[in-house]
Amino acid sequence: MMVALPTEPHVPTTLDRRIRLTRRVTDIEVSKTLLVLNRAQELQAKGVDVVDFGPGEPDFRTPKFVSDAAKRAIDSGFTKYTNALGMAKLRDAIADRYNRRYGVHVAAENIIAGSGGKQELFNLALALFSEGDEVVIPSPYWVSFPDQVQFAGGTPVFAKTDPMNAFRPTLEDIAAVATDRTRGVIINSPCNPTGAVIEESEVARIVEWCASRDAVLIFDETYEFFVYDGAKHASAMKWFDEYPETVIAVNSMSKTFAMTGWRLGWAVAHPDLVSALGKIQSHSTSNPSSISQAAAVEALTGHDDEVERMHEEYARRRAWLVPALNGIDGFSCPAPDGSFYLFPEVKRFFGRGGIVDSQSFANYLLDEARVAVVPGSAFGNDDHIRISYATSMERIQEGVKRLEAALGKI
Ligand SMILES: Cc1ncc(COP(=O)(O)O)c(C=O)c1O
Repeated sequence: MMVALPTEPHVPTTLDRRIRLTRRVTDIEVSKTLLVLNRAQELQAKGVDVVDFGPGEPDFRTPKFVSDAAKRAIDSGFTKYTNALGMAKLRDAIADRYNRRYGVHVAAENIIAGSGGKQELFNLALALFSEGDEVVIPSPYWVSFPDQVQFAGGTPVFAKTDPMNAFRPTLEDIAAVATDRTRGVIINSPCNPTGAVIEESEVARIVEWCASRDAVLIFDETYEFFVYDGAKHASAMKWFDEYPETVIAVNSMSKTFAMTGWRLGWAVAHPDLVSALGKIQSHSTSNPSSISQAAAVEALTGHDDEVERMHEEYARRRAWLVPALNGIDGFSCPAPDGSFYLFPEVKRFFGRGGIVDSQSFANYLLDEARVAVVPGSAFGNDDHIRISYATSMERIQEGVKRLEAALGKI
């Protein structure tokens, strides 16, 4: 006798002709920023000279004193599992840095280190959000936030930020879309993709508002060191002592120390939440790489000379690139306060040369100018594109020359 087996709700995809996937995974998307990078890389592999404004990672090398510490770790046999939350020395070093920088009182028990800030953000979503929970994400947003929330079972709710306010999130933007089901807010400042840097007074208002509604504030400050023209990074960590159940910070070695491939990031949170994150981590990746941890200790307890040198170079590129882009007819590119991205508006090109949206604009640039950019649609805004200046000044200048020539034709 045939027995009907219970079936899971299923969303068909082209993949499930061969493999039956869960809805959990068919409901989320591959990062669109990676798709653009992949296409540019395919062309490069064929020998095509592409100016790549796509990368979300520094073009600098990891500082030598940091790499040297990793080599020493390997040579001395520091190559075993560590505590799943990261080794004590690293968690102490991270806590010290926050205490010095923001005058708070966090300790190792407030820190979990993982394989990149992305892992901690993912684990936070798993630990905090499930069916019925809404999470407010200011838009434009970093691509992974909504999918992480959705993967955990929660519902991302977008709070549109105002380009006239340089896309800085405000409490009003967030409150306008909040409901009784709002369980959290995710803020990224300086922001990928817009470069927006939230103001301190606004952070204070959002922290208090979250606390009053029993919602958490996940504050992703991955780009904290990249602010320009006198702008100041305002961290929610400043309010951690007062609101330890509300404030959660996420940060990483990736951008600050040009260490994307080392995969080392962390979360700062209430000890109970740190334990919960540790539980998840212990059953997935265990600890972050022992070698990367040794390198991170050296970086965090050493000097920031190279971080400052990299910052100066980003500032020099930004100062050249913003006016150069504004010089291209049809581009509108205010100078954002932070990160290493620009987010120009390009909608004046729509309707010309087959361009109808940010995706077709990006395709046109790749096909006609051999310049790779990321369409704003990947970040929830179709009128803009993201341009990364984490590439050398020579390539930036070459890219602008190509943009001018290709866009001048339509
Ligand atoms: C806004 C933002 N948060 C977090 C991350 C995660 O960085 P990582 O996992 O390399 O620490 C990135 C990386 O691109 C990012 O742009």
